[in-house]
Amino acid sequence: MFKSLLCFTLAALLPCGAVLAAAKAPIVIKFSHVVAEDTPKGKGALLFKKLVEERLAGVVAVEVYPSSMLFGDGDEINALRAGKVQMLAPSLSKFEAYTKQLQVFDLPFLFDDLEAVKRFQKRDKSRELLHSMSSQGIYGLAYWNNGMKQLTANRELRKPEDAKGLAFRIQPSSVLEAQFRQLGATTVKMPFAEAFKALQAGTIQGTEGPWSNIASQKVDTVQPFISELNHGSLSYMLISSKEFWASIPYQTRTELEAIIEEVSYSVNQDAETLNNNDRERIIAAGKAKVITLTAQERAVWRTALSPIWKTYEAEIGADVLRAAQAVNRR
Ligand code: LMR
Repeated sequence: MFKSLLCFTLAALLPCGAVLAAAKAPIVIKFSHVVAEDTPKGKGALLFKKLVEERLAGVVAVEVYPSSMLFGDGDEINALRAGKVQMLAPSLSKFEAYTKQLQVFDLPFLFDDLEAVKRFQKRDKSRELLHSMSSQGIYGLAYWNNGMKQLTANRELRKPEDAKGLAFRIQPSSVLEAQFRQLGATTVKMPFAEAFKALQAGTIQGTEGPWSNIASQKVDTVQPFISELNHGSLSYMLISSKEFWASIPYQTRTELEAIIEEVSYSVNQDAETLNNNDRERIIAAGKAKVITLTAQERAVWRTALSPIWKTYEAEIGADVLRAAQAVNRR
């Protein structure tokens, strides 16, 4: 009935087949990201595409653009807000211009391990942060985790003072800036895709990142030392634009949200194993020396860096900070 009405109404303008084809055009989701496909985020994006193809064929089409091929981390959020892409999963360190509250995830040594980060992400305070940027058109769908961060450098970093004088590439986060300042190091905010070349050129002498990013970016081929500090997590927020998400018909949106829940579970379940495998691969390759710290050595770094929590308490919110600290099992 609807079909024939549509054909009848538009019959004078277009052939009926063309009208129906246009009416059935799938919703296109361009999912852009900056990492390699064999990383937690890269695999998550591909699994999302696969499940959408299986369950919403002809209704939604997903196009995945990895490795900054469409947009880099410097312009991807603006691209989302401008409707040029529909899904991203930027690291939580990249939202500072939109909300200060997510800085809680950058505070060094706040979370004891990735399990603590995951527990916090399930708490109400953390769930609320998914909507902390909604007035700016950013709609948070889920948290995805990569892994705990390590320090890479051109010298052996065993004690906090060993980092003094080195220039580290950081994500655009003032907490990360403060973290390295506290160590007497300097920082350069730089897109992810540019870090390798900057290391080769020597304009930076260190980076921080999880094993999967160190391995997939081949950082171990240009940095002779990796200190296994596990001082913070690299975690993501899967986002869409509020306007785009609201424009998806209710039934389809509900199905997409169920797929996202399934994919998020899988990403967060597998991230640690992927990172451990990459750690093993880096050790086996033998290009960089992996420095494992004793509990006492790690505690010295924690003591040196934890004073900055207080500096950010007001911006983050004392309630959010308290909720985050409460997830550690000590
Ligand atoms: C970085 O810039 O180091 C990371 O946020 C890259 C990523 O998306 O894992």
